[in-house]
Amino acid sequence: MISISYDPGGVFLEPGGIRRAELDELGPKLAAARNEVLADGELWASGKPVPAEKQPLDAGFLEMPERLLAEFLDIGNASELARLKSSADRLAAKVDSAVVLGIGGSYMGARAILEACCHAYYNEVEPIMRRGRPRMYFEGNNVDNDVFLDLVRLLESRGDRWAIVVISKSGGTLETAAAFRILLRELRATLGDHAKELGELVVPVTGSSGKLFDLANALGCKEMFPVPDGVGGRFSVLSAVGLLPAAILGLDVQRLLAGAAAMNEHFRTAPPEHNVVLNYVGVCHLMEKRCGCDVRVLSTWGKRLEAFGLWYDQLLAESLGKQEHGALPLTIVNTRDLHSRGQQHQAGKRNKLITNLIEDHSNRDPAVVGKSELNQDQLNELADKTLPDILAAAIAGTNQAYRDDHRPTADIRLPMLHEHTLGQLFQMLMLATVVEGRLIGINPYGQPGVEAYKKNMNAFLRS
Ligand code: PA5
Repeated sequence: MISISYDPGGVFLEPGGIRRAELDELGPKLAAARNEVLADGELWASGKPVPAEKQPLDAGFLEMPERLLAEFLDIGNASELARLKSSADRLAAKVDSAVVLGIGGSYMGARAILEACCHAYYNEVEPIMRRGRPRMYFEGNNVDNDVFLDLVRLLESRGDRWAIVVISKSGGTLETAAAFRILLRELRATLGDHAKELGELVVPVTGSSGKLFDLANALGCKEMFPVPDGVGGRFSVLSAVGLLPAAILGLDVQRLLAGAAAMNEHFRTAPPEHNVVLNYVGVCHLMEKRCGCDVRVLSTWGKRLEAFGLWYDQLLAESLGKQEHGALPLTIVNTRDLHSRGQQHQAGKRNKLITNLIEDHSNRDPAVVGKSELNQDQLNELADKTLPDILAAAIAGTNQAYRDDHRPTADIRLPMLHEHTLGQLFQMLMLATVVEGRLIGINPYGQPGVEAYKKNMNAFLRS
């Protein structure tokens, strides 16, 4: 069962929005796109040749949650999930910090998981509050010399024992590879006479061949995890790419997968009018085609969802930003960004669909405003209100202001933010992205446009 919901009530506006009947009329097309996505998944799983017009077909993410969970139940300790958890526990027992190297789809999901599910100041709290798990840093996702070296110095100055998790499906991405080479040198230096331990402190996640695969073998890495064939980078968060970092953080990876599997089940079986994935796609599509809303604002109402939003920005942009099509994704965090982008969203061009991403309940007890003898701020009249009360009023007030000006909004609601709901959300938006691709005739897999910069960068470096 899924527990997240999608309410598109705020897009049914006249003028400025669509009619509910239009969404209903799109139902058969959405159902056909769903069938195509499911057939893609079956074709991929069958191992049969993929026809040219379908290539590339990275549909392996569809069945991955169920496959990993079933394998865990069937073969226990020999399963990928069990190996991944024991590798994570081994690292966690050995080091104070883990540096996760990767870029794009090879890091954004892991970061989203950390920010959504861990203590907000995870790296700063005492080890006991991290339940003895290592701090986690993300690098190799840029080539910022100073930031990179600041991390090296930080690890050095604290005298941390640290490990590297290097993630690259192709194994040849320059940003990640360069960071890995430099960090490997640093790590080797810290080990001194214990250089043999290097193979235990480096855990690669990569494809079944390639430069990183070869390097990992040469280093004698004790454990290595796959980015399965047929799973594209931005669809790989629920493979070892996201699960290994999550397990190192001590998070419940089975719950993440169970949430995603629940979303798969809902996607397959719920009729279009009750299907959160199909409704979401239908609304986004109609708002773009009928109302020119080609800017999709994911308005997250909580700081812990910002990295999730950035993960989604990449997913949508790289999947559908092709052949001169594709809406522009934009993640914002409210109420913070009401004070920066709010003016434009309330009164700027009418080209935006705002999708609110709302947690109904916070994980911690509500902080109360309270009474004070110093009432210069005149907050005593709100003394019994809590921060969640203020947030709820901000959400309602903002939606009302948009509605009054005929600006469309929709809501995705999570009862609470934890591994299960996050797993649902990841899978919902991956499914929605591929369904929309099939609906508009754009192959959501592959990212040919990213190659141009890589080719030029290499040419400049090697000339
Ligand atoms: O979605 C994608 O496929 C990309 O964003 C990749 O994840 C990114 O380019 C990194 O590639 P790799 O994992 O091969 O280093």
